[in-house]
Amino acid sequence: MLPLYILAALVSTAVAVKPIHSHNDYTRAVPLWTALNLSIMSVEADVWWQSSQLFVAHTSGEIDKSKTLDSLYLAPILGIINGSISSPTPISVQNPLQLLIDFKTDGPTTYQPVLNALQTLRAGGHLTTYANGQLTQGAVTVVGTGNTPLASVIAASSRDLFFDADIRQLYSTKPGTGLEWGPEIAPLASVDYASVSSVAQMQELVRNAHDFGIRSRFWDTASNVATWNTFWAAGSDWVNADDVLAVSNAWAVFDS
Ligand SMILES: *[C@@H]1O[C@H](CO)[C@@H](O)[C@H](O)[C@H]1NC(C)=O
Ligand SMILES: *[C@@H]1O[C@H](CO)[C@@H](O)[C@H](O)[C@H]1NC(C)=O
Repeated sequence: MLPLYILAALVSTAVAVKPIHSHNDYTRAVPLWTALNLSIMSVEADVWWQSSQLFVAHTSGEIDKSKTLDSLYLAPILGIINGSISSPTPISVQNPLQLLIDFKTDGPTTYQPVLNALQTLRAGGHLTTYANGQLTQGAVTVVGTGNTPLASVIAASSRDLFFDADIRQLYSTKPGTGLEWGPEIAPLASVDYASVSSVAQMQELVRNAHDFGIRSRFWDTASNVATWNTFWAAGSDWVNADDVLAVSNAWAVFDS
């Protein structure tokens, strides 16, 4: 079971969030802004550590030197939070953004550069942080996926880069010796939908994640209204969207 202080933190910071995640967000017409225009508060960037920079691209062959984690995401996010850039949807503790950073290059090598890149947001006090046994909601929750090294995430005494757990293994594994899965390590747990055998299994996985206070996400799903509705009906928290406008329209109907 979750310690009470974590449950209390979850309750006190709960906000109504549109259950939509902008998958490979950097491929949108305008990265970050296409999602924010639709009040979609979860975005994902694939990140490559190369030539001492963190580039955002799908493959290493597609690296464009102007597209870095900072230029596409971190700088505009800071500007929106500090009011120097106006946004159709605010980013704040009350309306937080989840930023998924998909480590494409080696995990242990990429980890420290990502932490360094987060320094301006950290210095402003804008990151969700776990320290001294307390999870404190910030305007931005950063979750590492892909090659993100779990051991490094756990070793951080003040943690503001969290982990995307394997939703199938929450009950069968522990994140580390003497530790339990929870939002202070993994606010999010995901899996490739191809490895889920049935809707019933998906529903069970969503319940499992919620038992641990963790939000669920399935990727590589079919892209149609019936599928999205099945996930929302199961209480799945972040429906993976490639066509963010279509999913947003479907949510408006489902939610009404
Ligand atoms: C965001 O919405 C505004 C106003 O509706 C529109 O002018 C702009 O093109 C949109 N931007 C994106 C990236 O969707
Ligand atoms: C506000 O954000 C902008 C854009 O990232 C940045 O250049 C500026 O230094 C920030 N100002 C403060 C006070 O954080």
